[in-house]
Amino acid sequence: MPNARVIAVVNQKGGVGKTTSAVNLAACLGAAEKATLLIDLDPQGNASSAYGIVDPSRQIYDALMGEASLENLAVRTDIEYLRVVPSGTDLVGAEVELVGADGRETRLRTAIDAVRDQYDFILIDCPPSLSLLTLNALTAANSVLIPMQCEYYALEGLARLLETTDLVREALNPGLELEGIVLTMVDMRNNLSRQVETEVRGHFAEKVYRTRIPRNVRLSEAPSHGKPILLYDIHSRGAVAYLKLTEELLAGLSEEFNSDQVADIEREEPGHGQTIGEREA
Ligand SMILES: Nc1ncnc2c1ncn2[C@@H]1O[C@H](COP(=O)(O)OP(=O)(O)OP(=O)(O)O)[C@@H](O)[C@H]1O
Ligand SMILES: [Mg+2]
Repeated sequence: MPNARVIAVVNQKGGVGKTTSAVNLAACLGAAEKATLLIDLDPQGNASSAYGIVDPSRQIYDALMGEASLENLAVRTDIEYLRVVPSGTDLVGAEVELVGADGRETRLRTAIDAVRDQYDFILIDCPPSLSLLTLNALTAANSVLIPMQCEYYALEGLARLLETTDLVREALNPGLELEGIVLTMVDMRNNLSRQVETEVRGHFAEKVYRTRIPRNVRLSEAPSHGKPILLYDIHSRGAVAYLKLTEELLAGLSEEFNSDQVADIEREEPGHGQTIGEREA
């Protein structure tokens, strides 16, 4: 029985590549035959239109209001293992409607809990704000994936984002992890891109994916055709980069799994009690 890893794609800065990353990672995970659900949690609905879904009659809004299950909202895509829960303008009002509501930060988690066993991965594309919608995503997630555009002020706002994840971890979701930081729209001929990369890697070391997403016009064209890059131009540099990023993400997770296994084996070995006790202390 799969138990979905829920990854929120977050950065309150606008236009840094959240949707492009969520849409294309979801496609690559689906192509790798991982049962994947992409949840569009942005009233702009960009992740939905990237899959050709425009003005859906039923939206993520209905799940937040407790009026529909994600199972009923999920739309099939051209990738067999990938479904999308769309968003649209209804979601604009959700923020206001939820303000006084019970469990307003846990609405999405409740909805996700009902389908967790049906997916390997659930990706949430967040709006460019640290609003109640983003709080819902952080509360529901196992981890946060932060796309960062290699531009001036790339690190601006990051401290606030990390403070917010700390607060959510303390108050609502103790297990919340940093999945990783992905550098987007990278132009290696550009000095600035290189400087930003050095700075970000200096701060976050191995939390920054080795794979960089290059600036690639095919990535920006694909959504207007209602397709992820894999189905639009699989040979483009953008497609290759997102495939590599997916590989890295999956490898990172299986590494964690393997080191857990090693820890279990060590624990079972007699005579190691002391070390293990110390480690756990
Ligand atoms: N690697 C890339 N190469 C070229 N264009 C890109 C790339 N990544 C994203 N874009 C384009 O940049 C714009 C912003 O990207 P995207 O919509 O993914 O960002 P976002 O963080 O989701 O934005 P918002 O904050 O508005 O939700 C889009 O027009 C997108 O097509
Ligand atoms: Mg977006």
